[in-house]
Amino acid sequence: MREDSPVQYGTSPRPEVLTLSPYIPGKPADEVRRELGLERVVKLASNENPLGPSPKAVQVIRELAGSVHIYPDAAGFYLKARLSEAYGIPAEQIVLGNGSDEIIMLLGQAFVRSGDEVVMGDKTFPIYKTSTLLMGGKPVEVPLKDGFLDLEAMASAITPATKLVFLCNPNNPTGAMNRKDEVERFLKAVPPHVLVVSDEAYAEYVVDDDYGTLLPHLKDGKNVAVLRTFSKIYGLAGLRTGYGLMPEYVAALLNRVRLSFNQNALAQAAAAAALDDEEHVRRSIRMVEEGKAYLYREFAAMGLKAYPTWGNFIMVDTGKDCQKVFQALLRRGVIVRPTSAWGLHTALRITIGTVEENELLVKALRQVLAEI
Ligand SMILES: Cc1ncc(COP(=O)(O)O)c(C=O)c1O
Repeated sequence: MREDSPVQYGTSPRPEVLTLSPYIPGKPADEVRRELGLERVVKLASNENPLGPSPKAVQVIRELAGSVHIYPDAAGFYLKARLSEAYGIPAEQIVLGNGSDEIIMLLGQAFVRSGDEVVMGDKTFPIYKTSTLLMGGKPVEVPLKDGFLDLEAMASAITPATKLVFLCNPNNPTGAMNRKDEVERFLKAVPPHVLVVSDEAYAEYVVDDDYGTLLPHLKDGKNVAVLRTFSKIYGLAGLRTGYGLMPEYVAALLNRVRLSFNQNALAQAAAAAALDDEEHVRRSIRMVEEGKAYLYREFAAMGLKAYPTWGNFIMVDTGKDCQKVFQALLRRGVIVRPTSAWGLHTALRITIGTVEENELLVKALRQVLAEI
């Protein structure tokens, strides 16, 4: 705007918008490599799958690339049919999203009004808070117990003003899992006016019979929703494709709110193909299990506290300023996630990578901690 302009630009936003902070993305890995003159940069910051997407998904994307002049199927017919078959849940109970992020935002838009409360952990996936604040709701942030969502305290935080509760299981950034019996006890304590949302973005990585997924409770007709994504184990983060499984009345409400073409055509087709690639999922789980065992051994040898994880990432307490450790690792070409945004000061969240990536991280972390 020119200073001498007679027109005063500036339209005042809804006050709720000013309660939000913009997401500050890190520099692209290629830019970091170029700027620092590094040969290689390893990104262990966003819990992506270093094995890449399923080759079956890649093939479908290639085949469909010439058809992107056609709008996607607004009903997501084929992907919903595959998900319906895989979960034994009717297609009417499935909502597709531009990542599961979008479903979290849709839940806020459909349910939260000014003054409504939404219960969540105090260190958890940040979009629950964003979706609540944008709608003028009040996030009720319940302290974690040594990295675990404290379900008893979360049940006690519910009031007549509560609309939604967000469980994140496994929890990002800590990796902690809530067990079947805790979750069952929790659901018994939740009054019927509250929708419980279980964000299970890392469910496919969980190798534990005690996993407290809410899927069986959804099938039992409880007022619960389960969110899943193709961004993590399926390696399709760049395409943006996630979904929610929920009671039919919730799906019908979200379908009123969402944009008709919210999930793109390539995302729908690639997701359906990825769902069929069991070998890719098995390889990804094996890599994470082996990497996890290696990293726990190395962190213990360095005398660091690593939190137990059920996902494809580990939160580790470095005992030093995590921003400094993050910057020093970055200079050595290893990108991790400092936990300052969660109000923590010394912990890093590190995605479990390939054998080679994990070794590079360990070598760099040893050097950095010796220096700082
Ligand atoms: C717990 C959790 N939920 C949801 C998401 C978002 O996934 P999507 O890429 O499907 O939007 C993430 C991504 O990091 C996550 O960690």
